[in-house]
Amino acid sequence: MTDLWQHAMDHAAAVARRAGEVVRDALRDDRKVMTKSSSVDLVTQTDQKVEQLIIQSVKEKFPTHRFIGEESVAAGEACVLTDSPTWIIDPIDGTTNFVHAYPFVAVSIGFSVNKQMEFGVVYSCLEDKMYTARRGKGAFCNGEPLQVSDQEDIKQSIIATEFGSSRDPEAVEKIFSSLRSILCLPIHGVRGAGTAAINMCQVASGCVEAYYEIGIHIWDVAAGSLIVSEAGGVLMDVEGGEVDLMSRRIIAANRRTIGERIAKEIDSFSPLRDDAPPLKQ
Ligand code: IPD
Ligand code: CA
Repeated sequence: MTDLWQHAMDHAAAVARRAGEVVRDALRDDRKVMTKSSSVDLVTQTDQKVEQLIIQSVKEKFPTHRFIGEESVAAGEACVLTDSPTWIIDPIDGTTNFVHAYPFVAVSIGFSVNKQMEFGVVYSCLEDKMYTARRGKGAFCNGEPLQVSDQEDIKQSIIATEFGSSRDPEAVEKIFSSLRSILCLPIHGVRGAGTAAINMCQVASGCVEAYYEIGIHIWDVAAGSLIVSEAGGVLMDVEGGEVDLMSRRIIAANRRTIGERIAKEIDSFSPLRDDAPPLKQ
């Protein structure tokens, strides 16, 4: 049987590489920083330019496909996942890193059909690492197969997380309380690359056992979620139930027992969903 979406995936990898070149070039210039939902939620003209580059090139090849793009949603487009083929795009995952030239920045492209991820592409532009996964066909980095860690003991693990871009004192309190509990299990260490997509690719690569965060968006994790599961990992909600990519909560782990152990320590909360209707002004 022919692989229906292989052509689309090849296109995603090619356009992600082109987008990565734009990101690398922009790092040599002055970056004009703007803000979105808060003073620490950053965006640059490069985020917007790269998203347009990706959407335009996909539209030329696949004119009937739909899009969820971080900067299009920021500009007012609805964030709705239907059964139609949908490209879920984060033009720059790690915008704060990009602004500070901190060397982990990714272009993330997920592709969903019937609300199921068919492929995911994460291009870590400064490391020149191309992570790819196709449903049922495994996950790869620069063509080499990926496999999650086989560690069974949380106390022998490295866990990745982020502090996110909310500075709401209640949310910050919960983030620290979860982190304190997990750190004191104790675990070997906590890491955070500053991009959800790269954190998830590190779970898939086996160098960290798990990643969790509350506050991410669907475009941060869509591609990474398939890369983790195709590398043998599991995804779940921060309370241990089924993951919902619109809920802004995720655990990606090498195995279910590690994910569930982390879930037990998380002081959870529920940010406004990505698909929530816009707040009335
Ligand atoms: C952010 C990064 C960051 C995570 C935030 C995301 P952005 O995405 O993935 O690591 O902590 O929750 O929103 O804004 O750089 O695309
Ligand atoms: Ca982004």
